[in-house]
Amino acid sequence: MKKFLVIGNPIEHSLSPKLHNCWLKNNNIDAIYEMRKVESGDLKNLVLDIKRKNISGFNVTVPFKNEIIHYLDELSLEAKITQSVNTVCLEEEKIIGYNTDIIGFELGIKNTKFSLEGKKVFILGAGGVVPSIIFALNKIKVSEIIISNRTLKKAENLKKIFTNLKVVSWGEVPNFDMIINATSVGLNNNDELNIDLSKVGKQKLFYDVIYNPSETRFLRNAKQSGNKIENGRMMFIYQASAAFKLWHGVQPKINKEIFELF
Ligand code: ATR
Repeated sequence: MKKFLVIGNPIEHSLSPKLHNCWLKNNNIDAIYEMRKVESGDLKNLVLDIKRKNISGFNVTVPFKNEIIHYLDELSLEAKITQSVNTVCLEEEKIIGYNTDIIGFELGIKNTKFSLEGKKVFILGAGGVVPSIIFALNKIKVSEIIISNRTLKKAENLKKIFTNLKVVSWGEVPNFDMIINATSVGLNNNDELNIDLSKVGKQKLFYDVIYNPSETRFLRNAKQSGNKIENGRMMFIYQASAAFKLWHGVQPKINKEIFELF
């Protein structure tokens, strides 16, 4: 039986095993998908385990999406530009790193029916998933991407990859059509960002990359002020379905059974 993994630290809350195992069952594929908490020192051996055919592939989550790159043979173009890998495969004896977070975000946004072309987007946070979001926003042809991070230097570093970024200091709120919470604030139900968003008006799209809890305080407050809200659930499902397609050559179905897993 083939074995797939999601690796990260922490990893206990990952819903990837539920999702992938459901798709494996529905597609009659003889494989299993598990989670594994790892340390930096384990990454090299994990990649060797693919070469030795002990594992067939794995997903990578926080905080190893960049670090894993050292141990891979090749990267897809998108993984190379964003320096972020979330899916690892063996192809013709080479270990390849892909980034399916980009297509996950893109399809997740399409699903909201909120047209972003020519719109201004404000991103909060500069962690592991942000390069993928910026890459996708550039593909969608938004007019402006403004970013703010508590640690300014990390936002400024992103300008080296994405020269069109505008960086503002933490607490400053520019005019925007869509705001994205890409920080980890909200993972615990009552976490609150120390940013005043009470004067931004209505009819904007507030997007939270977090999907568990399904409605963070950031989203709850936005809804109460008359804005449209969306969490990261569809991004998560679409990144997983793109990884599944890479490994198994099948586009898995996203249906009621899948939504009931969340
Ligand atoms: P990593 O930084 O290892 O990639 P991440 O979960 O992808 O981890 O990113 C965490 C993000 O949430 C960062 O942008 C972090 O800001 P810093 O770079 O300043 O650490 C942000 N974050 C976490 N706690 C925060 C808080 N209390 N207020 C504001 N931003 C916070």
